[in-house]
Amino acid sequence: MKDAAPQPVFLSDYTPFGYLVEDVHLTFRLDPQATRVISRIRFRPNPDTTDRGFFLHGEQLRLVTARIDGATITPRITERGLTCDVPDAPFTFQAEVEIAPAANTALEGLYLSNGMYCTQCEAEGFRKITFYPDRPDVMSVFTVRIEGSEPVKLSNGNPTAQGDGWAEWHDPWPKPAYLFALVAGDLVAHADRFTTASGRDVALNIWVRPDDQGKCAFGMEALKRAMLWDEKAYGREYDLDIFNIVAVDDFNMGAMENKGLNIFNSSCVLASPDTSTDANYERIEAIIAHEYFHNWTGNRITCRDWFQLCLKEGLTVFRDAQFTSDIRSAPVKRISDVIALRARQFREDNGPLAHPVRPSSFVEINNFYTATVYEKGAELVGMLKTLVGDDAYAAALDTYFDRHDGQAVTIEDWLKVFEDVTGRDLSQFKRWYTDAGTPRLRVSDAWQDGTYTLTFRQMTPPTPGQPDKAPRVIPIAVGLLNPNGDEVLPTTLLEMTEAEQSFAFPGLATKPVPSILRGFSAPVILERATDNSERAFLLAHDTDPFNKWEAGRALGRDMLMRMALTGGDADAAYLDALRAVLRDDSLDPAFRALALRPPAQDDIAQALHDAGHTPDPQAIYQAADRLGQQMAGHMADLLQGLYQAMAVPGPYSPDAEAAGKRDLQGLVLSLLTRRDGGQTARAQFAAADNMTQQLTALSCLMARQLGQQESQAFHDQWRHDRLVMDKWFALTVAHARPEDAAAGAAELAAHPDFNIRNPNRFRAVFGALAGHAAGFHHASGQGYATLADWLIRLDPINPQTTARMCAAFETWRRYDSARQAHARAALQRILATDTLSRDTTEMVSRILD
Ligand code: ARG
Ligand code: ZN
Repeated sequence: MKDAAPQPVFLSDYTPFGYLVEDVHLTFRLDPQATRVISRIRFRPNPDTTDRGFFLHGEQLRLVTARIDGATITPRITERGLTCDVPDAPFTFQAEVEIAPAANTALEGLYLSNGMYCTQCEAEGFRKITFYPDRPDVMSVFTVRIEGSEPVKLSNGNPTAQGDGWAEWHDPWPKPAYLFALVAGDLVAHADRFTTASGRDVALNIWVRPDDQGKCAFGMEALKRAMLWDEKAYGREYDLDIFNIVAVDDFNMGAMENKGLNIFNSSCVLASPDTSTDANYERIEAIIAHEYFHNWTGNRITCRDWFQLCLKEGLTVFRDAQFTSDIRSAPVKRISDVIALRARQFREDNGPLAHPVRPSSFVEINNFYTATVYEKGAELVGMLKTLVGDDAYAAALDTYFDRHDGQAVTIEDWLKVFEDVTGRDLSQFKRWYTDAGTPRLRVSDAWQDGTYTLTFRQMTPPTPGQPDKAPRVIPIAVGLLNPNGDEVLPTTLLEMTEAEQSFAFPGLATKPVPSILRGFSAPVILERATDNSERAFLLAHDTDPFNKWEAGRALGRDMLMRMALTGGDADAAYLDALRAVLRDDSLDPAFRALALRPPAQDDIAQALHDAGHTPDPQAIYQAADRLGQQMAGHMADLLQGLYQAMAVPGPYSPDAEAAGKRDLQGLVLSLLTRRDGGQTARAQFAAADNMTQQLTALSCLMARQLGQQESQAFHDQWRHDRLVMDKWFALTVAHARPEDAAAGAAELAAHPDFNIRNPNRFRAVFGALAGHAAGFHHASGQGYATLADWLIRLDPINPQTTARMCAAFETWRRYDSARQAHARAALQRILATDTLSRDTTEMVSRILD
């Protein structure tokens, strides 16, 4: 229901709850239409506050009875919760409520997915299950009894007893309600065991529908790798006798770290060679690790309030990235992460949805599970580690776990640990958490009498509600190369603290070539007037793999910008540089693939906008196509040979080395398909024994409008497999011609297998439309109008997913006035919808502001 004007919550208004929860007993009598939830909660006054207001959150609950210390009461109930008079002493609150899981299409609270009961409580979903102080700083021990005919019934912690039609669970670790979980259904387990460093024997299970039992082995191996890694890298052991993972088909996000019972979007855990790509495997491994790592960074130490979300998410993303770097290729992981950071977080930080890593107000917290909180939040942890050094970082983390175990804490607590361990003052660093916007770092240099000087100026543009920004501390990793390619200064950390600052490097024989911001040591936009010969030099000689890639990236970006503006061709020097990378067998194939893949069209639009132009999505689309054509021509003689050389013999394995070869082979195939009429791609499609190569071949054909038959064959082959069909839906939209993308998406929404209630399917179609830059931003306005139509339909069903997808519009002000008028009309049409959700109302209002 739409409130007249959704009221924001402010960080500065935080006060502790007046009561502590001693323990909670919950009984669930499961029924699709009328589940009964019977609660018994023991409260006592909180000695840390004198505030004795008693309020329990509760939404969409039908109260059957409520009692205090056994006596029936009649509480005052509003849309948001319940109040009543309570004793000024410990007391027991009991309630029985009724909820309807089958009617819960929002997928928040207790709902049904394919006949299976499951829950999603983060951030504020527990209040849709029963009346409770649903805030992360209220932690308690839960005992849960589940009654129902489902063969498998799971909750947090350890199983304590079970009988015919019931099961009981007890979680000994105090936790906030957002970590509560319940699952019940007809499930089978892929089971294994893990012994922790101190000898605890842990039962591991991945629970899936019977059909999916063959897709669990990889996830299980990933889980064991993650458990071992957290012991070795952070000294963190698992703390229960059982760890359960459940795969759910209908899920708003990727996965959820509920204590001892992680719940996953099935797309983020199920894997098999036939149905999953290399990218799927890597993502599954990372998400399994991420949720597992939350057991310490999130569950044992949680957030005081939702403004502190980055405390657990930024740190846990950083930890899962370390894990991936350790077990795969660190440079490839870093480069891939920066590509994603720029595409999602920089885009967010430079538009109307910009917000600090730690926001200071929100209307709907679900709208703040963003790239800024997660990915920029992780960058801040990385910068801290760079600034204090590896040893101090390790010591700080040990102190953090010792000092705050069992607590709900803040960013101030986190930073205080680093200050105490290192003696550093981190007040300037804290601006990274409180100030939105991506800093611009302008670089100039000078050369005199054997001294090379680098001068940096930092400037952060205004963001909503934050017109002026003070300078931040920026760790800038720098190396210097001689003109002959030798490194004369290995990577050195410069610590910039002023608005403008110079660093001198004396005693050099010749003017060096600088390699700046190595490893992407800070999430900033580097602005340096440089020529392409310097970039080509760094692409050939830089010893830092990130900056080697970055040099090629900058060349490609500038080339595409120029091609889009002038309608001209790529210059030969650039194509030569790419050719040299492609044929350099000393380079990791995965790295070569990253270096050869030009920036995304949306990145080019942003870059053109930043340079003061109005981007034309159609011109960018055509420039990208011309560049592909010219690359294919310039490297024609290498393609067949490389295609063969990158073939991976033997049965499919998703390991990083094999995946890297397939990635480069796929890139080569996309070029080859421009020259051989699709012959090689058709052969690969027909022969493929794994999804990576099948899908790559199909994609290469569809990109050239050559894949009609193969698309149909793929559809018919995989019609029974939801996750593969999501790929088919997405690919079909992604490869539509710009003028056809919107109509194509709408047409797919009429396909018998389209299901608006399934977020994966909705995102496959309409996420692909939003990601089709030239199609979504088509001059006709059809992209905007079509997405708006479908967001309006989805909102009453699933506000959370609707609101997240509104971000597709966040770049609308980059474009010309005709496009802006179309976008504004679409946004206003969404906003004018009757009973629009709070979630979507907040997002659209911010985008229009
Ligand atoms: N904590 C989860 C994770 O990052 C995300 C769950 C967010 N869900 C939501 N509905 N906001 O692993
Ligand atoms: Zn997380």
